[in-house]
Amino acid sequence: MAKTTLSFVCQNCGAAYSRWQGKCEACGEWNTLAEEDTTGATSAPVSLRSKRKGRTFQLESLTGKSIDAPRLSSGMTELDRVTGGGFVRGSVLLVGGDPGIGKSTLLTQATSMMARAGHRAVYISGEEAVAQVRLRAERLGLADAPVQLAAETSVEDIISTLSEGTVPRLIVIDSIQTMWTDTVESAPGTVTQVRASAQKLIRFAKKSGAAIILVGHVTKDGQIAGPRVVEHMVDAVLSFEGEGSQQFRILRAVKNRFGPTDEIGVFEMTGLGLREVTNPSELFLSERDLGSPGTAVFAGIEGTRPVLVEIQALVAPTSLGTPRRAVVGWDPSRLSMVLAVLEAHCGVKLSGHDVYLNVAGGLRINEPAADLAAAAALVSSLVNAPLPPDAVYFGEISLSGAVRPVAQTSARLKEAVKLGFGRVVLPERARGEAGGEAGLSLNTVGGLTSLVADIAARGTPRARHDTTRQDDDGGDQGRRGPRPAEKNATPARFRRQDG
Ligand SMILES: Nc1ncnc2c1ncn2[C@@H]1O[C@H](COP(=O)(O)OP(=O)(O)OP(=O)(O)O)[C@@H](O)[C@H]1O
Ligand SMILES: [Mg+2]
Repeated sequence: MAKTTLSFVCQNCGAAYSRWQGKCEACGEWNTLAEEDTTGATSAPVSLRSKRKGRTFQLESLTGKSIDAPRLSSGMTELDRVTGGGFVRGSVLLVGGDPGIGKSTLLTQATSMMARAGHRAVYISGEEAVAQVRLRAERLGLADAPVQLAAETSVEDIISTLSEGTVPRLIVIDSIQTMWTDTVESAPGTVTQVRASAQKLIRFAKKSGAAIILVGHVTKDGQIAGPRVVEHMVDAVLSFEGEGSQQFRILRAVKNRFGPTDEIGVFEMTGLGLREVTNPSELFLSERDLGSPGTAVFAGIEGTRPVLVEIQALVAPTSLGTPRRAVVGWDPSRLSMVLAVLEAHCGVKLSGHDVYLNVAGGLRINEPAADLAAAAALVSSLVNAPLPPDAVYFGEISLSGAVRPVAQTSARLKEAVKLGFGRVVLPERARGEAGGEAGLSLNTVGGLTSLVADIAARGTPRARHDTTRQDDDGGDQGRRGPRPAEKNATPARFRRQDG
């Protein structure tokens, strides 16, 4: 009989210790160690394993025959876009997301679509009773779909049941944290159980050719709960995100062995379930506050699709010693960089101001191309000058203050035209690529200075006074000493230079 091995396993990262301790040294989290029986985790006793003779197996070439139609469309365009064109046979997907974001809703819809298309689709819920799942399906208008449903948590039972009859094309396990397997002793939801259950299900998927979707809980800081190692074991990790107060939901691939990771799927949560949003720009721009200072429309690219989104900035005099910098939907270090460039090269004084930046609609932007739109929004808020409502912005700002061209200029322009925008502020060097997009006036900028001067020329006198207010509020003047750029911080700097 196998000797029982007890160890203390960190529930955050999966590191194992022989003694309890308050802090996990691997991930730095406090009070996350729990006693677990890890006997089964090392499948067979050492004595048995070492005596088994290796079995020879066939080595194959890369040019073997592959199964036809390895991908299976889910029937939901936005979901297919993120997975890279549909579910791959024998692949395992992990879908993570905050509680109540709509994971079960999304997957109920996907299984129903598959079932309606005539495939065997199975939905196993470990969290809800069959009646509850049925209630949801009724609300979504999917009660008639021939989905096979069960409320089960034992991995062995699930695998035995699903091994009978035709191989299911899609199996949803909601959620992996509720599954347990006989081979390990720990309670469901512990790292050891999650890992062992995932391993068994993955083996079943590879052997049978069924596509399995595992739902994963997410911890406070947005990580999928349980061991990170599960993320490595599966073929793709999707994350379902959204702002609690808003109806938009964004599905994004964090990892994908069979497709790109830069595509996003956009959904809107309604009482009838998730509605696919095929033109996200319209959605993100639908509630624009035209004519208010501090907002700029950014022409971005998400994967292969252009997406126009509003960037909102608020620059307000601070009452704190260290001004606040808060950003939602964008990289905080990029914001710091843009602020530094504005201060150093354009004489825009922001060290006496709190700065808030928000990407409307709950979208998260990773592109450096958003620099120009962010800078325009910041300056617009600072000098209290609304930007033209029909203008879009894109371009990367370099540390020298130059505005650099970015990829896919023409796709961005086409989307802007489609949505009725009349002018584009873009990098000087992108003019050639911009071509003659009908009905667009191109306003090229070589450096950030000219953009700042342009916007500031519209500012109100009060706001212009504010921008230079800085000189008398610094408690740290003595420590810092005047920097070269500060000499330029006069209102003259903001006068329109091109007449
Ligand atoms: N009648 C309704 N009208 C509109 N939206 C609804 C309705 N019922 C539920 N919802 C939406 O569905 C969400 C719950 O969806 P779902 O159960 O799929 O989430 P989940 O991610 O699976 O949550 P959990 O982590 O608890 O399993 C709610 O937060 C709400 O936004
Ligand atoms: Mg759920």
